[in-house]
Amino acid sequence: MCGIVGYIGCGKTTEVLLDSLGRLEYRGYDSAGIAVVNGDGVEIIKSAERIARLKEQVPKTLMSSVGIGHTRWATHGKPSQANAHPHRDCTGRIAVVHNGIIENYQELKKELQARGHVFTSETDTEVISHLVEEYYTGNTLRAILEAVQHLRGSFAFALINKDEPDQIIAARKESPLVIGIGDDQFFLASDVTAFLRYTRRAVFLDDGDIAILTPHGLSIKDFNGNSVLREVRIIEWDLEAAEKSGYEHFMLKEIHEQPKSLKDVLSGRINELTGDVELPEIKLTQEQINDIRRIVIVACGTSYHAGLAGKYVLEMLTDVPVSVEIGSEFRYSSSRTDHHTLIIALSQSGETADTAASVKDAVKKGAYVIAVTNTVGSTIARESQSTIYMRCGPEIGVAATKTFTSQLAVMYLLSIYLGRRRNTLNAYNAMKLLSDLKNLPRDAQAVLDQSEAIASYAKIFSRANLFLFVGRHLNYPVALEGALKLKEISYIFSEGFAAGELKHGPLALLTTGVPVIAITTKSPTYEKMISNIKEIKARDASVIAIASEGDEAISQLVDVVIRVPDVGEIVSPILSSIVLQLFAYHVAVCTGCPIDKPRNLAKSVTVE
Ligand code: F6R
Repeated sequence: MCGIVGYIGCGKTTEVLLDSLGRLEYRGYDSAGIAVVNGDGVEIIKSAERIARLKEQVPKTLMSSVGIGHTRWATHGKPSQANAHPHRDCTGRIAVVHNGIIENYQELKKELQARGHVFTSETDTEVISHLVEEYYTGNTLRAILEAVQHLRGSFAFALINKDEPDQIIAARKESPLVIGIGDDQFFLASDVTAFLRYTRRAVFLDDGDIAILTPHGLSIKDFNGNSVLREVRIIEWDLEAAEKSGYEHFMLKEIHEQPKSLKDVLSGRINELTGDVELPEIKLTQEQINDIRRIVIVACGTSYHAGLAGKYVLEMLTDVPVSVEIGSEFRYSSSRTDHHTLIIALSQSGETADTAASVKDAVKKGAYVIAVTNTVGSTIARESQSTIYMRCGPEIGVAATKTFTSQLAVMYLLSIYLGRRRNTLNAYNAMKLLSDLKNLPRDAQAVLDQSEAIASYAKIFSRANLFLFVGRHLNYPVALEGALKLKEISYIFSEGFAAGELKHGPLALLTTGVPVIAITTKSPTYEKMISNIKEIKARDASVIAIASEGDEAISQLVDVVIRVPDVGEIVSPILSSIVLQLFAYHVAVCTGCPIDKPRNLAKSVTVE
């Protein structure tokens, strides 16, 4: 949801800004712009289109050593040239880019208008430039320190001022911001992928931090103007990992990365000798573990589906009741969260506003929170007492793929970890599960090896205007996720159901040829699934079954069978999900949709 960048260093500012913005386009892409300080003041160039168009508009001759940039995903004011960032103040000396939502912007705007400020956009962001102008008496930092006291909501912003041309000042509250440290140059971005090409040294700002970047150094202050120290971290992702590596889309590349991402998420965490899981990042004492009376998994979207699968496994392996809550609902519920509650917050970005707010609230109420995220230094990671990182590397495609399967793997590890410590899972049973988990990279590759066949089935069904997905027990969340993946990238109406619910309504949707994807891998509910498939076939719908290798009988009942390795019930959802990711991807290729950037969606939803 909006990407911001900044650069201070040598004269190649516009080149760095445009390159960095290109890498952040997944955060928002309805308009873009840059502002640079040059001899005449602050020059702003904006486009109401994508970054490629902005690049054409920026003159090659535009030289500067300081600048900021923005790629937008509209929240206040429609996508347009006027609403594109950067925004100016009335004097034209200040330019600002912003990510987040200023909740009291209407109020502030009215007050500023009454004092003579003229606004030129419908955005909430523009109040920041005017507010800083209002307080400016020759010292930008002082004006910003004053302005942030009046801003409510979430923000990460960066600001330049032609009267103090050798600096960028940036502030963070509840929206991500990271500084890149180069040799005699500094970078600023919503996400490290923006500047990885130039440096791996990064400083993640905390909420309430203000960073002052000059050609000579970086200093950080809190909102009261006191200096604070932040650690410099070395980012191990390389740029290669952040680019497409020859695949046509990031989504396809990321689907194919799953043998590696699954290996990485398990690496060093499985102890086969003891039949245990090692998660030193969890700081719970044995007493606290014994004391857990309730587990609540909080997440949104795809992460919520991973949470639903996690619930089944946690309940199987521990004796604790588990509920799964959607972030935007949980944060406003009157849930009885207390110090006997373990919260597991699932979020690949670590920045989803509703999940983050739920975490904050739960911590306040005394719960212990474990975050599961892919993003080091993210808001949710920092608000939680423990964080298990998914180690997937950057996921650029808006549709979550490798992060989903890694979330499932972490949920299984965590379930085994807790089951062992609560004595509800013995070493022998744990070893069996761990051995299935260890084979996942190999089994995932076996699924990927069927890509061509899956693409050909996708082509056959790509003209359908409705898809249903059904599964039971652990395969129910797989059905939900399969439907979400397909709808978000192909725009075809798709819905997932618990197969047992079919006769309670969805059967009415079935007519000749409607494709129904049935996840029918080996499990205790297999026979029930077979009955459901018969119900579906009796309505002349087409059934595409995902079945375990060796299940020959199912071929007689359905139109198409896609096989996955015959693995334990707990692990098979990961493999079935990879099939469904490939299926969705290839349907979207047939329908000609912009796969990595589906309309109206953003990778990181940092507002409510
Ligand atoms: C769908 C998708 C979204 C996210 C959701 C939560 O492919 O990616 O549904 O899962 O926005 O995002 P995170 O996991 O970053 O909290």
